[in-house]
Amino acid sequence: IRTRVAVIGAGPAGLSLAHMLALQGVDAVVLERSSEEHVRSRVRAGVLEQSTVDVFDQLGVSADLHREALRHKGFYLRFDRTTHHLDFHADTGRNAFVYGQARVVGDLIDALPGRAAPVIFDAEAVAVEGIGTDRPEVHFRTPHSTGVVEADFVAGCDGFHGVARATAEPHVRTVQRVYPFAWLGILAHSTPVTEEGMYSAHPDGLSLHSMRGPQLSRQYLQVPHDTDLAHWSDERIWKELRHRSAADDADELETGEIIERSLTRLRSAVTEPMRVGSLFLLGDAAHILPPTGAKGLNLAVSDACVLSNALGGYYADRRTDLLDAYSVTALERIWQTQAFSWRLTSALHRHDDEFDWPLRRARLQRWVASETARRELGEVYLGLPFPTDW
Ligand code: FAD
Ligand code: DHB
Repeated sequence: IRTRVAVIGAGPAGLSLAHMLALQGVDAVVLERSSEEHVRSRVRAGVLEQSTVDVFDQLGVSADLHREALRHKGFYLRFDRTTHHLDFHADTGRNAFVYGQARVVGDLIDALPGRAAPVIFDAEAVAVEGIGTDRPEVHFRTPHSTGVVEADFVAGCDGFHGVARATAEPHVRTVQRVYPFAWLGILAHSTPVTEEGMYSAHPDGLSLHSMRGPQLSRQYLQVPHDTDLAHWSDERIWKELRHRSAADDADELETGEIIERSLTRLRSAVTEPMRVGSLFLLGDAAHILPPTGAKGLNLAVSDACVLSNALGGYYADRRTDLLDAYSVTALERIWQTQAFSWRLTSALHRHDDEFDWPLRRARLQRWVASETARRELGEVYLGLPFPTDW
């Protein structure tokens, strides 16, 4: 197969990039290891920044989103048995949107045919060769055959454990911070505790009460990083969620049937630079954030914008300066977002020493009391401007 851009991975990064390139008339082929059904059903993230929704509007893939997404002004913060609403909309005029990653990916796949070459599902990239040349190749295998995509550029959108990052590894540096805790997540048939998401900062650790619909809650508990899900019965999960979210100004949490559960170990990582020759890294292939603040999907889309803009400049005018600047341009927003995720993570999670809780409480009180502190938080929560148009 011969194309201009070989895209590895059909997650938010790869699919957004495929749309952006198609709209600029740049040919691309997307290789995806998993089946279409699997890709459409992964639960994962759920909060979209206003900036991300603005891009989906421009791509023309947001009709279902605007019909079904929950539009939030900010989030609730609960501590000391008291609930506070942080209204970032009042400060910034912007919103956050709750719309599951599975729906985002499904909408992007649905809109591709007729616009761009469809994704090749069940096609695993096994090697990227020639990244030091202008004729890189991606070798892939399907259940029945093998193949090669020859391209001008390779976009590695295949996550942190993908072949793209592994190929770049000898030429780049990855800095990381691994946390001693994980998030136990559930999806349950129960009424969400508040109409917008709520972080509950308890001395015993974080609980997070989000949603996917009026009768569908998505909730998380901070647990030790070596937690075994088998030790957490439904009863134990509900008991702990109730304990950490107990308040004097609210009813007890509603319980219900748990239909999905997962464990995510928290980690922050950034790979620099995000380009080696003709190979570019995007999204989780280049960086990982702790889930606090729900930024991973949004950063994947902003990376796609930066690269699409640079590739557009290359094919329209043979400009190479934007490609050369890709890593620096994308990393500025990535580090600002890492800083935000770290602030939220450190304020909301239990760390084990006696200084921890009073210090965290002081930070939380600041966000409630000071419009200046809140505005600063909200600016990033609702999405910093994207570095470029796509
Ligand atoms: P992905 O969505 O991971 O897409 C990569 C794609 O590449 C996948 O479809 C994969 O199958 C494919 N692939 C991998 N290797 C190959 C290969 N060799 N060949 C071909 N295809 C390949 N973020 C939040 O903000 N909030 C959350 O609550 C949250 N929960 C998460 C829970 C889990 C279990 C995980 C893994 C992530 C979670 N994230 C969350 C992060 C968020 O989902 C990611 O940041 C986002 O999916 C990044 O998009 P991406 O396109 O870069 O990568
Ligand atoms: C989700 C919501 C959040 O506010 C967050 O920080 C992480 C995840 C969610 O709905 O999945």
